[in-house]
Amino acid sequence: MKNPFNPSFGKMPSVFLNRDSLTQRIVTELNRVGSPFQTSLLSGQRGSGKTTLMTEVSNLISKDKNWLVINLVLDDDLLVSLINQLQRHLLNLKIIKNIDLKMNFFGLDMSASFHQQTESNFQLLFQDALEKLTKKGFHVLINIDEVHLTPLLKKFASCYQIMIRNNLNVSLLMAGLPENVSEIQNDDVLTFLLRANRIVLNPLDIESIKNSYQHIFSKAGYTFSTETLLYMTKQTQGFAYAFQLLGYHLLEEIIHSSNKTISISDINNILDTYISELNRNVYFKVYSDMSEREKEFVQAMVKSKQHKVKSQIIGNLMKKGPNYIAVYRRKLIDDQIIKPNGYGYVSFLLPYFDKFVEQEMILDEF
Ligand SMILES: Nc1ncnc2c1ncn2[C@@H]1O[C@H](COP(=O)(O)OP(=O)(O)O)[C@@H](O)[C@H]1O
Ligand SMILES: [Mg+2]
Repeated sequence: MKNPFNPSFGKMPSVFLNRDSLTQRIVTELNRVGSPFQTSLLSGQRGSGKTTLMTEVSNLISKDKNWLVINLVLDDDLLVSLINQLQRHLLNLKIIKNIDLKMNFFGLDMSASFHQQTESNFQLLFQDALEKLTKKGFHVLINIDEVHLTPLLKKFASCYQIMIRNNLNVSLLMAGLPENVSEIQNDDVLTFLLRANRIVLNPLDIESIKNSYQHIFSKAGYTFSTETLLYMTKQTQGFAYAFQLLGYHLLEEIIHSSNKTISISDINNILDTYISELNRNVYFKVYSDMSEREKEFVQAMVKSKQHKVKSQIIGNLMKKGPNYIAVYRRKLIDDQIIKPNGYGYVSFLLPYFDKFVEQEMILDEF
């Protein structure tokens, strides 16, 4: 049996847990005229499932022949790539002919001048293509993954806003880390994005994770006691990447054993591998992106040695007052590093992130 879990980024997993039919809801909303989802910003921590969700939405909406999906990455070729893809759709749909492209500078191939021409005429080209498609009843969904504020994104977003104002059939779904999405929404130029719909990717539902582990392992011929199943589920804290990673390693671990009952010690056997891959593939980057103040905050949480930490305790350890603590508490909650856990308390959101911070603190001492 091939391991169905897939702990890698940006690829559609074969074990996909639907978040309360979020994919379906986004697609339904995109089809509704005047829906706030027309411009949506998807935000979530690394590994929370943004790219996967975007792919799901694309796959689902592409089934409708009236929808064209354009996937973009935020690099120097953003605008050129968008125009290229629009043109390709126009050609495929026979709305324009190759000759039409040759009439203008599109006859040139990817040379420097083509690039320049496209960029300086971007708004016109964008509008022209969308007008042609809208007239024929097509809708365009533009996906941009890993967004952050750059001059190019600003240029694109300003033009997009004009297309919306002109009632053209275009929608935009952008995905990024919470801090990057907030920065985009709070930019002075892009104020219209403040009204955009923000979709926050919360952890996966614990019940779905439990059922999915149960289902997959029993299909592979293994059984769990309820206690073991809950113990395993708990290790993931609902973190999408962790769900795949733990499932993957457990199956690899037991696949050669003749014992068909999974025990807590089987899970414990793979915890070190599990944690070190979380550290290497996610936490290292999450932690290095944090500001010094934020690091001090999470270090204070670790020093408290409590699972649920009271703001006041963090304040005492950092020697700071409640207002100061409140600012960083809010920031870290928004960035999906910690979560509120009862009145005045916070906990870490990601599994074993506290162990990572602890390790960094020890390494720092040398
Ligand atoms: N809904 C889901 N159900 C199960 N696994 C998921 C789901 N969404 C994401 N994953 C898994 O989580 C990991 C990270 O997903 P990805 O979409 O690359 O995250 P992001 O783009 O937010 O960094 C991948 O291994 C993916 O298979
Ligand atoms: Mg991604």
